[in-house]
Amino acid sequence: TRPQSPSTPVIEKTRSINLIEIKARGKFGAVWKASDRNELVAVKVMTAQEKQSWSTEQEIYKLSLMDHENILHFIAAEKHSDSIRTEFWLITAFHQLGSLHDFLKHNTVSWEQLSHIACTMSRGLAHLHEEIPSDNIDYYKPAVAHRDFKSSNVLLKDDLSACIADFGLALIFKPSRSCGDTHGQVGTRRYMAPEILEGAINFSRDSFLRIDMYACGLVLWELLSRCSSHQGSVSDYKLPFEKEVGQHPTLEDVQEVVVHKKMRPVIEKSWREHSGLSVLCNTIEELWDHDAEARVSACCVMERISFQCQSIPF
Ligand code: ADE
Repeated sequence: TRPQSPSTPVIEKTRSINLIEIKARGKFGAVWKASDRNELVAVKVMTAQEKQSWSTEQEIYKLSLMDHENILHFIAAEKHSDSIRTEFWLITAFHQLGSLHDFLKHNTVSWEQLSHIACTMSRGLAHLHEEIPSDNIDYYKPAVAHRDFKSSNVLLKDDLSACIADFGLALIFKPSRSCGDTHGQVGTRRYMAPEILEGAINFSRDSFLRIDMYACGLVLWELLSRCSSHQGSVSDYKLPFEKEVGQHPTLEDVQEVVVHKKMRPVIEKSWREHSGLSVLCNTIEELWDHDAEARVSACCVMERISFQCQSIPF
């Protein structure tokens, strides 16, 4: 091979990112709509205090087999320093419709749209939770628990397919690695499963996956609460337990409602009178069962919903 002369230009794909506007503020960092040359991207900008979340999130995105239709597409992680501060950036695909939470605040959904969102969301969660065995490290995917699953961490693509985002609190389960060094009470209060609120979880992989499934039940309820395909009326969007504990509950408020009174969001009679919705209502009730072991897996939710949607052209 010919040695490169010092004057040979090195062609490098350099990014040239322009932050345009803030689209969302999360627990960790602000998400910007940005442009990278001709392409729109999303940039989550985190401070030095949020570095742990940046590291965890990129570690999750970089796991093999994480490039999946229903997981937010990762582009790059960058550190930006000037003389005053360091910022930690995560660059991902940008989705104009924003989060499922934002969408439901302003839109109702038909049964066809609801089942498409529910099916693709559970497909993403099933993929995240799945361990894919392989002797080849490039094809091995460990199981991952999200630990902050909620409607504002589910994004909608233009065709209303869901993709899961925000892995700053996620936990990887590698067979050789223990997860006993973590503490259980993390996430967003209103989506916390009873066993977290009680401080009673054991640190096994399955117990973390079941905690995600409880939150998934609440997100499915949010979807149903905005569905217009039944005979009843559709109320304005409310977060799960917003009626019971308001917008800014304390941990004690949520404990009182979820653990002591064992309340769950209301399932309306008219929802049960629609054949498709009624099956989903039963699944939701299984997902938010007080007994974690009674909850169905993401894969099972996906199979049930895709079976129901087989006959629906979307
Ligand atoms: N809000 C949070 N992440 C986003 C993304 N990737 N695209 C659009 N809105 C978002």
